[in-house]
Amino acid sequence: MERLGSVGFGSVLLVCLVSGASALLHSANPHSQCRSCDPQPASCRSYQCISNCSESRVCPSPQDVCAAVWWRDAGIVTVETRCHDPRQPLHGVMMEDYSSSDCVLTIRHASGLNLRLCACTGHECNARMLLSQPHHDSEIVILSASERKPFKLPQLCKFCDIESTTCNATGVCESSCNITAICEDPEQVCVSAWRRSEGNTIETVCHNPALPFHGQYLTDFSSQRCEMKQVKGMEDDFYICSCNAEECNDRLIFTDDAGPDPPGEDQKKLLPLLLICLVPSLVLAVLLVSLFYIYCVCWQQKLNAPKTKGMDSETCAIIMSDDERSDSSSAKANSLNHNTELLPIQLDSGVGKGRFAEVFRAKLKHASESFQTVAVKIFPYDEYASWKTEWEIFSDAELRHENVLQFLTAEDRKAARQYWLITAYHERGNLQEFLSQHVIGWDELCRLGGSLARGVAHLHSDQTACGRAKVAIVHRDLKSTNVLVKSDLTCCLCDFGLSLRLDSSTSPEELANSGQVGTARYMAPEVLESRMDLENIESFKQADVYSMALVLWEITSRCSATGDVREYEPPFGKLKEHPCVESMKDDVIRDRLRPEIPTSWSNHTGVHLLSSTIEECWDHDPEARLTAQCVVERISDISSAGIPPLSPDIIKSTGDSGNDEK
Ligand code: ADE
Repeated sequence: MERLGSVGFGSVLLVCLVSGASALLHSANPHSQCRSCDPQPASCRSYQCISNCSESRVCPSPQDVCAAVWWRDAGIVTVETRCHDPRQPLHGVMMEDYSSSDCVLTIRHASGLNLRLCACTGHECNARMLLSQPHHDSEIVILSASERKPFKLPQLCKFCDIESTTCNATGVCESSCNITAICEDPEQVCVSAWRRSEGNTIETVCHNPALPFHGQYLTDFSSQRCEMKQVKGMEDDFYICSCNAEECNDRLIFTDDAGPDPPGEDQKKLLPLLLICLVPSLVLAVLLVSLFYIYCVCWQQKLNAPKTKGMDSETCAIIMSDDERSDSSSAKANSLNHNTELLPIQLDSGVGKGRFAEVFRAKLKHASESFQTVAVKIFPYDEYASWKTEWEIFSDAELRHENVLQFLTAEDRKAARQYWLITAYHERGNLQEFLSQHVIGWDELCRLGGSLARGVAHLHSDQTACGRAKVAIVHRDLKSTNVLVKSDLTCCLCDFGLSLRLDSSTSPEELANSGQVGTARYMAPEVLESRMDLENIESFKQADVYSMALVLWEITSRCSATGDVREYEPPFGKLKEHPCVESMKDDVIRDRLRPEIPTSWSNHTGVHLLSSTIEECWDHDPEARLTAQCVVERISDISSAGIPPLSPDIIKSTGDSGNDEK
């Protein structure tokens, strides 16, 4: 009792002491004063951004600290400043580091955006935000407090697009560009180009070196200095340099050997010396090219052989088809077209109409009066969200794959109140149109089916063929009208308007709200029933595999190798009708129906094996379905087994010509 009494007294004393100390602290810790403005553009230089907010307020609660929210909106750095109670989440994120007097921005994937947030303690400490501590390396890696995951900070480059210049391609020139941009994408480096045309011009931009710039691949992008190199074979004198250091494209260095002037006497004397140095290098280069050629031949053979999972890093260099790599317009790929001038595009005819947008065939004019045919997907301003979703999916450079539609750029066509996505154009149109008009042989079945599965496997994978990390993506609307047929009779996936990135940029709420989307005819039973396990990302992939199986069935149904080809019909019936979810539920769940596998499919060993694979992909139990990668391997095995076709493997049009050009 006595002990209890003394414990009770002790507790009372402790409470008094704590509350006294807290009262003292309160009086010593008055309300913070913070910058407080709605989102507005901020000025960023080097590793700091200064908020342009001139409003300052005394925070309502003594607990409040100063906070800032930073993001990029169409390339413009935008910042919101405010008082913030650190016991509450800010954009869904608890701010752990707020006691510093510096507002150090850390990346958070919140509200579906790549936000950077910071909180700090001190008078108006959110007026200035630090992107990281100053550092000598251009590739700065900082740790986000919540994720403890390194990320690469985007580069700062001069970005004035094309301006006229007095620089005459000798010595060292300054760009005179007074706009410093934080590059959109951490992969981008600084690039400058000098051109002698009507009046000399300098172009300064951020650019991803994985993509060609004016049709050229950058070779010197890891350099700290921008050393100009002349591009051969251009009508005008044209020089390009690239580098990877802060604003390094401001200073253009024209070295003598790269300059346009004819070599002087001294240079002439140097020529034999140069030759002596160059000959061994040339021999070495020839040797390397030969080795590379032999390697390519081996690789081609390997392609025809059964595939094992993964590829080594050298295969990466040749994973894109040649026409995709040499495509000069993809210089702007994976970004919003930052130019104030929009691309010179002339729309031709409409080629398709979707839920949110219409696709046109169009001409992209090049400087040399030539043009390239492209596809333009036009979204009205009301469909901003769909355009943004698809643009965000395409913006991931690691999505690029020969079986995924090649993205060129996105544009905000303000005057027409339209958003555009500009992509490669494929003359043969979509797979449904193609199959309606053509009977195919066994080889074409393997090409179309194999490439479709490779496209889906790449989308689903969390690494590229070269082993680089990639965000897994699910399509969620796979169907034969969302697959295009390329000129080499391989498929590429398109229309990513309903796709989801399966990473932390997709919030759990987004995943939870993404139950039933897609086209009823192609919906997996668990999607029709809204019984998908939304917590498990594999279940999204399993639903895609079900839809892919229906498309594989459509392709197989037009193969003449079985000796019995029927008219094209979509899975589950008539082309013109759009079955609703309820009627599909009756077929797919209540009656467990699937498209018919005719007995004639057993006439051909390959088709028979393929039909078993298809059946494993449309299993009622999502867990029992094959993965897309497994389908790739199955088709590769089946197609390389040298199965003799029953009928000639020539593409035959069911119409009157064998030519499918429109
Ligand atoms: N239909 C939809 N997108 C297309 C494209 N990129 N090429 C041809 N037809 C299309």
